[in-house]
Amino acid sequence: MDQEPSLRTSVAGIELLHPIMNASGFLGYSKEHIRRLASYGFSAIVTKTITPYPKKGYDPPIIIALSNGGLLNAVGLENPGKECINEMVEEAKKLGIPIIISVGGATEEEFAEVAEEAELRGATAIELNLSCPHAKGYGIEIGMDPQKVFSVVKNVASVTKIPVIAKLGLSDKVLESAGKALEAGASGLTLINTIKAMAIDIYSLKPILTNVFGGLSGPPIHPIAVRVVYEVYREYKADIIGCGGVTKWEDVAEFVVAGARAVEVGTAIIFSTTQHKFVEEMLDSLRNWLKMLGFKGIEEVVGIAQKI
Ligand SMILES: Cc1cc2nc3c(=O)[nH]c(=O)nc-3n(C[C@H](O)[C@H](O)[C@H](O)COP(=O)(O)O)c2cc1C
Repeated sequence: MDQEPSLRTSVAGIELLHPIMNASGFLGYSKEHIRRLASYGFSAIVTKTITPYPKKGYDPPIIIALSNGGLLNAVGLENPGKECINEMVEEAKKLGIPIIISVGGATEEEFAEVAEEAELRGATAIELNLSCPHAKGYGIEIGMDPQKVFSVVKNVASVTKIPVIAKLGLSDKVLESAGKALEAGASGLTLINTIKAMAIDIYSLKPILTNVFGGLSGPPIHPIAVRVVYEVYREYKADIIGCGGVTKWEDVAEFVVAGARAVEVGTAIIFSTTQHKFVEEMLDSLRNWLKMLGFKGIEEVVGIAQKI
């Protein structure tokens, strides 16, 4: 009998049963959230971005569902602060699932403070959020400046031994920032975050989000994310987690052949009505696809679109 193709993969030194994890920001700041995300079948859990101290978000409206299938949000990195890390890591350990703490900060010291707490509590890895497009001072202002990326990553990598993944967003400097993150000691890159965007109410004649600008996610950003993954992999052959607009197995496959070793799913979790099945369904289809093409495992096709 033919053996089923393997979906096992590893990224930034993290061994994964399959390539599909959740993206940061979709649940993920309490132990109940960890249980819920694990029940959806993700191979690792990424938490909401955690800052050293509790952070209040923006006033509503903070999320808009768009008619093109996209989502516009300006949550503002609301989170309870680093105290919540312990219970989340404990829960993930009980469930035997790798946990990646998404780390945020307004200064190099704040990033390091949360990263140290994550390591102390036993987290599997850290994902540095260097790319939020709507929390002033906390995200893309860092990610679009390759020198700042270098110093934040270097500083965190010097105080922790667990893998550091740099999450970068869309900017003219994304290729350069990716290179600087790797040079500074990042074991992997998550590409990309939401893209700065806005929506206007044409009757009140005002921007809809209280924050005016938000981050666009979901299917509309997928081709952009694929392009970034493809270009960064072509340049550095780095360990990459593709993120942006994954709603079906074909999107996962596309990210992998562009150069990603794993993917993160965000907006699709909100829109799905079958959260408990959709990861499993994507995995079945990915196995069938690999079998049809004659591959033994998903790792064989990472970045293969670059060679053809
Ligand atoms: C409501 C919401 C909250 C988010 N919160 C975070 C966050 O805390 N940290 C982060 O790095 N990204 C955050 N993101 C971005 C996602 O992790 C992801 O990069 C983006 O949504 C693209 O993936 P998707 O199209 O699958 O949603 C958030 C996105 C949304 C829509």
